[in-house]
Amino acid sequence: MRRVDELRERTVWKSDPHTQVKHLVYRHYLQCWMGKILQTFSEATIVDAFAGPGVYTDGPPGSPVVVAKTFLEHTAHRRFNKLHLVCLEERPDRVEELQRQLAKLPPSPQLNISVQPPGVFAEQQPRLSALAHRGRADTPVLWLIDPFRLKSAPFSLIRQCLAGPRDEVLFTLFTNELHRFCQREGYDKTMTPYFGGTHWTSAVTERRGRREAFATAYQQGLTDQGLFTGSFGIKVSSQSARYHLVLATHSEAGLKCWAPVTWKLDHYSGQGASAETAGALSLFDETSVVDRLDVALRAHAGTAQRRETLSSQAARLNHMDKHLRQVLDTLAAQGLAFRVDPVRARTSWPEGCTVRFYAPEDVADEAS
Ligand SMILES: C[S@@+](CC[C@H](N)C(=O)[O-])C[C@H]1O[C@@H](n2cnc3c(N)ncnc32)[C@H](O)[C@@H]1O
Repeated sequence: MRRVDELRERTVWKSDPHTQVKHLVYRHYLQCWMGKILQTFSEATIVDAFAGPGVYTDGPPGSPVVVAKTFLEHTAHRRFNKLHLVCLEERPDRVEELQRQLAKLPPSPQLNISVQPPGVFAEQQPRLSALAHRGRADTPVLWLIDPFRLKSAPFSLIRQCLAGPRDEVLFTLFTNELHRFCQREGYDKTMTPYFGGTHWTSAVTERRGRREAFATAYQQGLTDQGLFTGSFGIKVSSQSARYHLVLATHSEAGLKCWAPVTWKLDHYSGQGASAETAGALSLFDETSVVDRLDVALRAHAGTAQRRETLSSQAARLNHMDKHLRQVLDTLAAQGLAFRVDPVRARTSWPEGCTVRFYAPEDVADEAS
């Protein structure tokens, strides 16, 4: 049976390596998100809006079970406040299977799982949003948006999911499909609502890396709305990414959970993982690509910057503090970065320090 037929006709279908990598990203991100959110706020919600049947024919769990298990197996789980997991699935047979799968999990008083009656997400979103926020607009809500088809999740719907100040979206962006069909006659009628504007057209002319260019364009649309965003390409072996996972959040703290996930799964560039590299240490483990951060820090030449400002800049470029320290060390070795305050410290770049940056001309030998 062809895969498209299997997905359409069967209640449960076989997993693939992409799904495994996607779930690995979910797990790592959720571990950080739960650790922070569920020990800070009295309650929070995860909405799995395209939940699926909760299992694959070859055994792996589906996303709602991945979420629940990440909660139940978290080392800090006993200290967690309440998590509501709300699942929506369009097909009645898959809803039934999902209920069966979730019923196998051990109960926990802190985990409240609710499987909604079969429904179409675009129609149910306002009701789910009210359910998820529990009477407070600022309840943290993480929306998992993982449809089969582009048309099921236009940008306007994603915006709706980000209406609350602590709403976050983890979204599957169909970059391969966009790459393949973007020049097809009439496809703009699908693309423009999907992106929420025509800014996707700038990616079409990209000869190399068009999939990544679509991810960048999508993220630009989110940034233009004042949101923070990160993305990660999901691929198999050395093939191009089939889709990207895109995070949209109102808070820089959300990005601080995202960057370590991407670097954990792709030690070299933090931009995308294949099924092979996700589990294994990469050959390039010690030499991550920090070019963009290097360029950004060099641009501070002639100014002094607070460590917090630099840390925030690194997070927006999907880098962690260890990368910041790595680049600062490199610049310091070239005389281009200098800690001016405090004078004495146990580490080179402690919290609260101020760094002054210089240009290569400033350190050039005067005689030369
Ligand atoms: C990609 S699968 C989800 C896989 C699941 N998130 C996982 O990772 O295990 C998409 C699911 O969404 C369901 N679906 C499709 N369109 C939908 C819609 N408009 N609203 C809700 N569910 C939908 C499909 O029946 C399918 O089970």
